Amino acid sequence: MFTEMDVAHMSKMIDLSDRDSVFEHADAIYATVLNGTMPPPSSGEPRWSPDRCATFKRWADEGGNP
Ligand code: HEM
Repeated sequence: MFTEMDVAHMSKMIDLSDRDSVFEHADAIYATVLNGTMPPPSSGEPRWSPDRCATFKRWADEGGNP
């Protein structure tokens, strides 16, 4: 669900290309995409739709299956 830009910019904090890392930080990631702070509007990337946020949350709630 993450773009190369997302992975590159966030790599120092969270490895968005790594399932375990994303799952471990799923609550924090969900909060940022839901409230629109990530990806930052200044990055030029579109804000995540409610659908997309819900898909991510469902994935996390169901145990983060690959
Ligand atoms: C716990 C979750 C996250 C934290 C604490 C976090 C924090 C940050 C911080 C501190 C920056 C640099 C400052 C800024 O440009 O505002 C940043 C940049 C960025 N983040 Fe995140 N982030 C999180 C999740 C995400 C997620 C889930 C995405 C993508 C869906 C994302 C995409 C980006 C992008 C694209 C940038 C670069 C913005 C730019 O340079 O224009 N981040 N993030």
